[in-house]
Amino acid sequence: MTPRHYAPSQKVLHWAVAALIVALVPIALAMANLPDGDLKNALYEWHKSFGLTVLALALARLLVRAARGAPPLVASLPAWQGRAAHASHLALYALIVVVPMLGWAGTSACCAPVMLYFTLPLTLPISGGMPVGEAILRVHQVAAFALVALVVLHAAAALHHHLVRRDGTLRRMLPGRAE
Ligand code: HEM
Ligand code: HEM
Repeated sequence: MTPRHYAPSQKVLHWAVAALIVALVPIALAMANLPDGDLKNALYEWHKSFGLTVLALALARLLVRAARGAPPLVASLPAWQGRAAHASHLALYALIVVVPMLGWAGTSACCAPVMLYFTLPLTLPISGGMPVGEAILRVHQVAAFALVALVVLHAAAALHHHLVRRDGTLRRMLPGRAE
């Protein structure tokens, strides 16, 4: 049966993934542009650990979504906007899995070990060394910027619903509200 609202777990996972992405993109831009040193190295570690956390939470989100579904879009939406919303949600789900997987694979190939929060070794067995790692990380970067662009559009659409259309779209993703 189609649910009438998002489950609390879906809301928590949505905002946890959003917060991590908002943190790890500026970290990525800083780490890529800083001169070599301890700060740059630390930012790489935080970027990788936050990214792996996004991957774990994204997989949890997909499981909850598959098990429970999502409420239908607000009824007043024109058909093309409904199709755009569904397509962008699908693309967001795909990218929050694919982007960290590419980062993980590329880093495992070029720059092992991958350590989760400075402790747990999680290097993938990917051979090919630096050339393969760099090629994968280039795709990671392009896919990450596509994700950022889509998130900006998505957040703008959510704010448009809330401030201009004044429907319940944003409210139903907020904690503590049933609709
Ligand atoms: C949703 C998750 C992720 C997002 C949104 C993301 C985003 C980005 C972005 C925007 C850059 C480009 C920075 C620049 O060159 O200006 C980048 C670079 C990088 N990312 Fe990620 N990333 C994620 C997950 C990961 C993971 C899980 C790893 C590794 C375990 C990783 C490893 C790297 C590395 C090593 C670079 C630097 C590549 C280079 O120096 O050219 N990322 N990431
Ligand atoms: C930063 C990373 C973000 C990602 C990856 C993301 C991803 C998603 C996905 C995949 C859905 C569809 C949920 C489903 O149908 O199961 C969704 C729904 C939603 N998101 Fe985000 N989101 C992000 C940030 C934001 C931000 C910043 C806002 C608000 C400013 C926002 C507001 C919403 C709202 C209101 C919905 C519900 C839409 C509806 O059900 O009609 N999201 N998000």
